[in-house]
Amino acid sequence: MTSLILGGAGRSGSRIFDRLTTMGVPTRLASRKTGFDWDDRETWPAAVRGVTAAYVCFTPDLAFPGVPDKMRALGLLAAAEGLERLVLLSGRGEEGARASEDALRHGGVPTTVLRCSWFQQNFSEHFLTGPVRRGRLRLPALDVPEAFVDLDDVADAAVAALTQPAPQNATYELSGPELLTFTQAAAIIADACGRPVTFESTDVPTFVEDLAADGVPAEEAEPLAYLFTDILDGRNASLADGVQTLLGRQPSSLRSYAARTAESGVWS
Ligand SMILES: NC(=O)c1ccc[n+]([C@@H]2O[C@H](COP(=O)([O-])OP(=O)(O)OC[C@H]3O[C@@H](n4cnc5c(N)ncnc54)[C@H](OP(=O)(O)O)[C@@H]3O)[C@@H](O)[C@H]2O)c1
Repeated sequence: MTSLILGGAGRSGSRIFDRLTTMGVPTRLASRKTGFDWDDRETWPAAVRGVTAAYVCFTPDLAFPGVPDKMRALGLLAAAEGLERLVLLSGRGEEGARASEDALRHGGVPTTVLRCSWFQQNFSEHFLTGPVRRGRLRLPALDVPEAFVDLDDVADAAVAALTQPAPQNATYELSGPELLTFTQAAAIIADACGRPVTFESTDVPTFVEDLAADGVPAEEAEPLAYLFTDILDGRNASLADGVQTLLGRQPSSLRSYAARTAESGVWS
């Protein structure tokens, strides 16, 4: 009964790996470090062979062009290798990601899809860490409300889906407990840090330039920018109940995340 974290020990994968290992579930990781590459299908069979369940985390984003073809091939391979369940990390309100979800299910393996709001940890473990440190968040988006979700809640939900007695062919939307505009989120982070952090809407080139200051290459920043222009239009301005349904508890707030994160010193 081995579980596979497909897509590596990244932000979500490492959290899930730690939880499963602590629970005593035999678990292995697959990413370029172990010889598995999303861009080379010949590396896939060895990664999935011998496992019963897989968490699927595609990088950089399920919504990008060409990814549905990969998900379709993976779904068929998972069925051929006898996997009993898949858990897919997806995003809320992303049309392209919908196509990838459908494609993965094509092989017929029961698949739990976790459609997540923006991760709170984007501000501290990803592309917004530098802008928060500099006190100036600039995004190619309007100041829309978002229901920022804690990656620890996402990891708990993925572990529940991977280990519950019967696999589920179901889709859950995961959000945090409250809707906050980016200006409100910046104010909460500023309060936790004890120094100003502001939000302003910007254009795509400025956003790409900001990310370049932190070493994010343009080929990664540009598609992200266009994805944000697309999805940060208010379409996800609603709360979802996936955390409550899967875990039987309330999701963690941005304020709680910001306090913990400021304490860790990552924004100092
Ligand atoms: N950020 C958000 O707010 C948000 C919200 C909703 C959904 N999502 C979704 O979350 C997913 C990203 O999750 P994450 O942040 O947990 O991942 P992550 O931290 O970006 O990284 C996952 C891992 O992917 C591996 N990787 C990169 N390129 C690879 C390749 N070509 N082949 C195989 N492995 C590769 C890397 O390991 P190696 O270096 O060892 O290969 C890395 O450890 C995306 O699909 C995104 O759409 C994000």
